[in-house]
Amino acid sequence: MKVLVVGSGGREHALAWKLRQSPKVTELYIAPGNGGTRLEGINVPVRDNDLPGLVNLAKEKQIDLVVAGPEVPLVLGLQNVLAKEGIPCFGPNAFAANLEGSKAFSKMVMRDSGVPTAPFQVFDEYERACAFVEEKGAPIVVKADGLAAGKGVVVAGTKEEAFEALEAMMVKREFGSAGERVVIEEALGGEEASFLAFCSGEEYALLPSSQDHKAIGEGDTGPNTGGMGAYSPAPILPSEKYEETAELCIKPILKHLAAKGEPFTGILYAGLMYTENGPSVLEYNVRFGDPECQPLLMRLDGDLAEIMMACVEGRLSEVEVKAKAETAICVVMSAGGYPGSYEKGMEITGIEEAEKDDKVKVFQAGTTYDNDRTLSSGGRVLGVTALGGDLADAKARAYKAVERISFEKSYYRRDIGDKGLKK
Ligand code: AMP
Ligand code: GLY
Repeated sequence: MKVLVVGSGGREHALAWKLRQSPKVTELYIAPGNGGTRLEGINVPVRDNDLPGLVNLAKEKQIDLVVAGPEVPLVLGLQNVLAKEGIPCFGPNAFAANLEGSKAFSKMVMRDSGVPTAPFQVFDEYERACAFVEEKGAPIVVKADGLAAGKGVVVAGTKEEAFEALEAMMVKREFGSAGERVVIEEALGGEEASFLAFCSGEEYALLPSSQDHKAIGEGDTGPNTGGMGAYSPAPILPSEKYEETAELCIKPILKHLAAKGEPFTGILYAGLMYTENGPSVLEYNVRFGDPECQPLLMRLDGDLAEIMMACVEGRLSEVEVKAKAETAICVVMSAGGYPGSYEKGMEITGIEEAEKDDKVKVFQAGTTYDNDRTLSSGGRVLGVTALGGDLADAKARAYKAVERISFEKSYYRRDIGDKGLKK
């Protein structure tokens, strides 16, 4: 089986690493990949949003399965254009990908299918949006409708902050067309968890719970990032609650889309908030989370290629999706300054040292390989991931590995996993 992974982050390195372990996979390509994916397969310089380029590559290499890492190609319709050529894609079609591509669409699907979510309204007009904020008061949450690389959500503590966010999105068009429409919703308080499932039409197979760390600073302070670390399982969502949680937030969505004639294939990711009244869905993603993917795939006990193929062929119930009993944790090492401006081109040393512990895997994200050197090329540079008997053990191993790695101005949070340890 020839597989093409689309994307270039830590998630894609983890996907390539796990797919390569499948005896079924004979050739593995990553487009465009990074300094780490080159160790797992062949990097091809085609960007993740270049749909014609990806289709041509898949045809040329006679790819049997395309695995979409990020959301952008899916929202642009990668599944649809591949389907026209008869090439299977692990990831939903453009309609279903709107669960992530449009917050307004996503909230309406949640409401129509009875999924618990914060009360909301959708606005296309700046003045009306401001009037709504004026009426509701703060705290309140303003969300750009379209994709904004994780920057389109403002949890406003004051009305003024909400007005500023509306102006930035709707008047200054800081996110382009993504901010022409906004969702304004009630602010919820509580702890967050991520809950992901392999999906094939109305069938699903659950992955264990996980928890991301979105803020740059320790104690969840400072601006949001793509994610500074993750671990699995998350004690806030224990395994005995998986089935009822899926009944609440996975099954109704799959049923709704299937009834619309747009069945969902791929990973459905529910971002949950545990409020005093129980779980509420903050968002859906239509792909693995980054960095949640790294600990989840360290724990996945099975053949990822076989599971993905079963999803696209509508026979998910024939395969077993099992997770190792161990805990996994991923600590992201970023370039100093991220998520603001940061330098690139720093040489990274110590990865091999870090991986001398056979329970540790270093997934590369913003890296390139040049003249025998691994250099940083992005904000999130590495995801140092470890398995352990429990969270404390996994955490200790991951941080020991982090200390063996160095690059100039590196930064990482020291408190990844601490919310879980407190439980
Ligand atoms: P989203 O992309 O919708 O998940 O939003 C990104 C982050 O914003 C979430 O992970 C939460 O931390 C926060 N957030 C989103 N919606 C709400 C809400 N209704 N109340 C409080 N925080 C929220
Ligand atoms: N880690 C959150 C995300 O991938 O959206």
